[in-house]
Amino acid sequence: MLSKPYLLSSDDLTKEDIYKVFEKASFFQENYAPGVKFNDLKGVTVCLAFFENSTRTKLSFELAAKRLSADSFSFQSSSSSLSKGESLIDTLRTIEAMGVQIYVVRHNCSGSPNFLQQNTDGIVINAGDGKHEHPTQALLDSYTLYKKFGKLEGLKVAIVGDILHSRVARSNVNVLNTLGVEVAVCSPGTLVPRHIDNWKVKMIPNVDDAVEWSDAVMVLRLQRERMESGLLPTMREFSNYYGINKTHFEKKPDLVLLHPGPVNYGIELDYDVSNYPNVLIETQVTHGVFTRMALLSLLGSRFSK
Ligand code: CP
Repeated sequence: MLSKPYLLSSDDLTKEDIYKVFEKASFFQENYAPGVKFNDLKGVTVCLAFFENSTRTKLSFELAAKRLSADSFSFQSSSSSLSKGESLIDTLRTIEAMGVQIYVVRHNCSGSPNFLQQNTDGIVINAGDGKHEHPTQALLDSYTLYKKFGKLEGLKVAIVGDILHSRVARSNVNVLNTLGVEVAVCSPGTLVPRHIDNWKVKMIPNVDDAVEWSDAVMVLRLQRERMESGLLPTMREFSNYYGINKTHFEKKPDLVLLHPGPVNYGIELDYDVSNYPNVLIETQVTHGVFTRMALLSLLGSRFSK
């Protein structure tokens, strides 16, 4: 069990909750082998309700639910009756009438998972809502750092890139602070949120300094689909001033790098460095399945038989 019966934002997670997720994720990581099924969610039905595109989050939740023996199915908004004008709330009620207990929700409107949670007796897990939060990404990122460094207290992490449009940055700053990690952000002024002073972060304007300061860098995607025009002069300039490339690894060969994906190679990160041993992008994807298994198991235990 976790302290809240849902996961809508990183504020729902205490330090104890996060370490419970890590412990359970480690158990699944050590004990999973192809063909192995766990019975944690036997008799539980999980709906993957993705109103916005996803590869990693959707597929990893789907695999996680299947490995825990849940009945799971996907709701595709593009081919649903939303296109005929059905409302979000009526869509939820329709799905609920089919006997669903857990909803994994991604939506481009911030706050949609909260709205759905207020209207269901089931459990809602936020799989990314607009620019607001992506708490399960923060869980898998901090789990990846935990596995790499063995401890998190006192670690220094610099988040580099488009902070303004990033739900990953918001959730990670919160989760990393909860875990005692020192966090810095490095971004062009136009891509820094207006209320950054309320975040517990250090600002490092220069990317070389941010790399030098940190034990690990978390590089973020430029979210061009959420961006108004005029925020950046050109992509090439952003890449020159804020991109991570070979020269950063030449100066700091043990640099640990995370990126939530999908990556705009050649913009925020050079393709040449993608296979370096401390570039953990694929490890993050692998850990995404185990941390989501852990979360589903801990939240769903009240429904399982
Ligand atoms: N990191 C992440 O949320 O990726 P997807 O959009 O592919 O799920």
